[in-house]
Amino acid sequence: MSAAAPTVPWPSGYQTRRVAVRPLCVDDLDFIAALHADPAVMRHVGDVSAGDATDIARRLLRAAQRIPPTMHAWMLQMPESGARIGLMTVAPTAEPSYGELGLMFHPRRSQCGYATEVVAALLEHVHAAGGGLVARHRPDNLPVRRLMLRLGFIPRAGQGGYVRWRSRADAAPRRSAVAR
Ligand SMILES: CC(C)(COP(=O)(O)OP(=O)(O)OC[C@H]1O[C@@H](n2cnc3c(N)ncnc32)[C@H](O)[C@@H]1OP(=O)(O)O)[C@@H](O)C(=O)NCCC(=O)NCCS
Repeated sequence: MSAAAPTVPWPSGYQTRRVAVRPLCVDDLDFIAALHADPAVMRHVGDVSAGDATDIARRLLRAAQRIPPTMHAWMLQMPESGARIGLMTVAPTAEPSYGELGLMFHPRRSQCGYATEVVAALLEHVHAAGGGLVARHRPDNLPVRRLMLRLGFIPRAGQGGYVRWRSRADAAPRRSAVAR
């Protein structure tokens, strides 16, 4: 008889050196909608109209607040000022112990190492619980590709025009990627 795959207890929130990671609340809706309506953020994701962006934000909040959540989602913000810098999501996959990572940073907060820092901490948590993360992106999304490599994700066979990755519990993120 084989043991059932563990289900990861996704954290409700945590703090890294520079970023506070917390559950979504209704006050985040405008920020989430603005991210989805921003052509710079959506460049490698797909066009979304302003109306659709508002709808996506509402549906995400509902999914994150369901018990149990049908989508895990966290607001990322600066601990001192409280300024929102981005959104992180984890969607359930067919494997109970793995979730699919999604990230959207405000363009002004990209290229600062925040994404690396936040995902490295999440990986530590999920790997300790016996789980992991998968991710996929369009081939031309080079920032995500660099992020995956920095964090020790392993490339998988592509599917449906997407590049796919899977985290590896024994591949610690490069310290230099998170310690600056
Ligand atoms: C995908 C995304 C989250 C990646 O974020 P990112 O800004 O590239 O990643 P980080 O925040 O970890 O920043 C790392 C970069 O900052 C640089 N950096 C600058 N200051 C740094 C510091 N103090 N510490 C660490 N890195 C720093 C790093 O060198 C690295 O640059 P490189 O990618 O050119 O090597 C971001 O580009 C994004 O939100 N994109 C739009 C939405 C999107 O496409 N989402 C993915 C859908 S699948």
